[in-house]
Amino acid sequence: MALLPDITAFYGAGDEAGRLTSGRTIGTVELVRTQEILRAHLPPSPASVLDVGGGPGVHARWLADSGYEVLVVDPVDKHVGQARNQGLAACLGDSRELVQGDVSFDAVLMLGPLYHLPDSTGRARAWREAHRVVKPGGLVAAAALNRYAKLLDLDSPHALDIATTGLRVRPDGPTTYYHDPSDLCAEAWQAGLGDLAVYGVHGPAFEALRAEERRTGTKDLGAKALEAALAAARFADGHPELVVSSLHLLAVARRPRTPEASRLLPANGPESRR
Ligand SMILES: C[S@@+](CC[C@H](N)C(=O)[O-])C[C@H]1O[C@@H](n2cnc3c(N)ncnc32)[C@H](O)[C@@H]1O
Repeated sequence: MALLPDITAFYGAGDEAGRLTSGRTIGTVELVRTQEILRAHLPPSPASVLDVGGGPGVHARWLADSGYEVLVVDPVDKHVGQARNQGLAACLGDSRELVQGDVSFDAVLMLGPLYHLPDSTGRARAWREAHRVVKPGGLVAAAALNRYAKLLDLDSPHALDIATTGLRVRPDGPTTYYHDPSDLCAEAWQAGLGDLAVYGVHGPAFEALRAEERRTGTKDLGAKALEAALAAARFADGHPELVVSSLHLLAVARRPRTPEASRLLPANGPESRR
């Protein structure tokens, strides 16, 4: 499996640990929404969770604090060290080739790896690995970026390119992959997962929050903006057609209990769109 030097350099320079916890409204919305969506789908604690691409362990931390037995896997040394420094179990690894055994976790999270896997073969491997290590009936939750939401960003010179190709190629950093939301469902389905649903994590307000950051020069936009963004995102959960307004998506799926078990297609899944 190819190493990921550009990923290591990218995260070495950034503050991934503070992205969700530094008080930036956009980060707080992502943290709160990810927590509430996962809590609605995870088995009760104690249960085992493999956090693939878990980074410095922000989600692993609250899951462990809630009684889950969490293992963080990440290809970036710095992240594994940051996770261990806060007492979490963590090891180096790649979503496309996990060393964990078959059917060994009650839930598998992939909150980030799919952004960094621009080729479909890599993403298919990551989904298949998640399916392999999760127990029958277990949860697989995967985050993705939505290629169409950038069209709401009037300041982005890349919006049309991203909507058309799904790719953001940076001269000095890793290429980012943006999904078509229905392809996200198709990938999970092709890996053998069922019971699919896709949520908009930030919901419709993401680009409005970013525009407000630019207008005010501040990243903590206050309680009113936070509550409005959360209310809009929760409203959108009941309206699958609004999922395309959210930049960050969270797909939840289950490994069928038996190979023969029927796998229900989601209301906003591939068959309903084509
Ligand atoms: C945007 S960060 C998200 C971190 C954390 N899961 C969160 O939601 O806050 C993406 C993470 O995916 C990791 N990653 C990138 N490529 C990966 C791969 N092929 N396998 C596993 N993790 C990967 C990165 O090192 C990084 O920690």
